[in-house]
Amino acid sequence: MKVFITGGGGFLGYRLALRLLERKTLAGPDGKPETISQIKLFDADFPPNPDPRLKCVKGDIADADVVEAALDRDTASIFHLAAVVSAHAEAEFDVGYQVNLDGTRNLLEASRDLDAPPRLVFASSLAVFGGKLPAVVDDSVTPTPQTSYGTQKVIGEYLVGDYSRKGMIDGRSLRLPTIVVRPGKPNLASTSFASGMFREPLNGMVCEVPVEDSIEMWILSPGKVLDDFIHAHDLPASAWGTNRAVTLPGITFSVKEGAEALRRIAGDEVAGRVMFKPVERINNMVRTFPARFRTDRGTAMGFRADADIGGIIKDYIAAEGIKL
Ligand SMILES: NC(=O)c1ccc[n+]([C@@H]2O[C@H](COP(=O)([O-])OP(=O)(O)OC[C@H]3O[C@@H](n4cnc5c(N)ncnc54)[C@H](O)[C@@H]3O)[C@@H](O)[C@H]2O)c1
Repeated sequence: MKVFITGGGGFLGYRLALRLLERKTLAGPDGKPETISQIKLFDADFPPNPDPRLKCVKGDIADADVVEAALDRDTASIFHLAAVVSAHAEAEFDVGYQVNLDGTRNLLEASRDLDAPPRLVFASSLAVFGGKLPAVVDDSVTPTPQTSYGTQKVIGEYLVGDYSRKGMIDGRSLRLPTIVVRPGKPNLASTSFASGMFREPLNGMVCEVPVEDSIEMWILSPGKVLDDFIHAHDLPASAWGTNRAVTLPGITFSVKEGAEALRRIAGDEVAGRVMFKPVERINNMVRTFPARFRTDRGTAMGFRADADIGGIIKDYIAAEGIKL
């Protein structure tokens, strides 16, 4: 079976591809495991020297012809992760709509022409929720996003639902928590600091955290979200029913608790590199992202969260081979 990953050159897309290379199979249309014959990554950019077993296609998802040409007709499974992230979509209104909305529509339209309706997993975000929310957001809360990014993601969820209803795809949307700890460099996500506050100090650098230390966040580790992408793909359509979107289980941590956990694990010198310097624009945006959820549906469907922030920090230290 052929697999197509948009955003395959990005943080999660590239790691998902490596995980699939290791795993070698995914559920086929009848639900039985099938051997993956090709993984094609589609992205505007790729890391240097990608794994030669991966087919990398450079292109702009906002260009419908390019997307159609890149997608082989016998593709069985699609993971749609290409996006411009939150603060970028907020700062550049037109780019956000072109990539996050038109790009999603282009992919869905190209998917209609395939030999058989593909399974399609879409990376949505907890940013679909915003505005006046209950203290704990459960599965009954209607998304009312307060950012362009959140708006584009919730429209994407509805499109995935509608194309599934029409039998054009077999779609599934995952509302991702903020993924922590993201290795590498900071990105343009307004929540970039949630990884930076661990990553930079553990790598000998200072991190200026642009929010107040009371800010809470709903997070999940990179390892767990990759499990969740694959689990979402392999679940039968009947597990989704008429609701094709799910909020993923995660854990709540306050930035202050994160800094304390870092101190316990890595010591005073490392934790001393975390500096709180709130920036109003970022602080106000992150405040609209809810941090407390009850994800009964996601849990019942078999999605799983990490145990605690300490475990997430330790996983990052182990994965990066950092010596304390
Ligand atoms: N990482 C998180 O904390 C998080 C949280 C919630 C949702 N998500 C969603 O998960 C997905 C993956 O996130 P990530 O952290 O890997 O982000 P990322 O920025 O590393 O990856 C996104 C990829 O999309 C590509 N892209 C952007 N514009 C494009 C275009 N015009 N054409 C083709 N490719 C384009 C980028 O080059 C990038 O490689 C995204 O859709 C994101 O919105 C991520």
